[in-house]
Amino acid sequence: MKRGILIVFEGIDGSGKSTQLRRAAAALRERGLDILETGEPTKGTWGRKIREMARTTDRVPRETELAWFIKDRREHMRDTVLPALEAGRIVLCDRSYFSTVAYQGARGFDPAQLLADARAEFGHPDLVLFFDIDPEQGLARVAARGGQHEPVFEELNYLERVAEIFRGLAVPELVRIDAGKSEDEVAAAVRAAIDGIVGGVRSTDSGRTRRHPRSEVGKRRLCAFSRPGLRRSSLLRARLQIGFDDLTRPSHR
Ligand code: TYD
Repeated sequence: MKRGILIVFEGIDGSGKSTQLRRAAAALRERGLDILETGEPTKGTWGRKIREMARTTDRVPRETELAWFIKDRREHMRDTVLPALEAGRIVLCDRSYFSTVAYQGARGFDPAQLLADARAEFGHPDLVLFFDIDPEQGLARVAARGGQHEPVFEELNYLERVAEIFRGLAVPELVRIDAGKSEDEVAAAVRAAIDGIVGGVRSTDSGRTRRHPRSEVGKRRLCAFSRPGLRRSSLLRARLQIGFDDLTRPSHR
């Protein structure tokens, strides 16, 4: 049974989520907690294909792109995330399927269906931090920091659509963070949100993290990774605000 905690960092490029993930990891480690920093796309077979594609201006067909992200996630969950959760670690993940919902949704797939499919297959994290930033500001930050340009994903009109879908996500575990603020202000908001989830967790002598036995936090947890029975009920609770279909319709899996 899953014992760890999964926290996903989401947002458009330039929203500062990766910087905040590193800061949060350092702060949690200082508390003696056992942290795994990871992210998607990965550096595995599918992740490499995605990055190669992202650096060109020729986009692969949207079906191919979606399939690559899903295959990459499947491997990442199986080989990295789930074993860490089973070992009781706190996993901080830079992007997950909410990116697929937003980015591939902005390419024309139905965001509600993408979300329903992902939740049916992968369950859901304990906490999603959505770093909300104006796309123009995000792109300006990306330009300012230089580095690898990804023209495929970094075009303003496209990112406006991506941001809209992110903003319409209304899953119960999602906390919106105003990412337009200063790095320290954002870090404080991140800390507050994470404390709400990790507050009942303490480190153990073995270096692993364990839920505090008297904590209410564990009882509130909705994560369904290893508890299929919970999956459907958490799916029933999940809704999108902006006119997407009802997620309660039968999944085709
Ligand atoms: P990014 O987080 O920028 O990776 P890195 O900084 O390590 O290169 O992700 C690369 C791009 O992939 C990013 O623009 C968003 C996009 N993406 C999707 O379109 N769908 C997805 O499911 C994921 C995980 C990412």
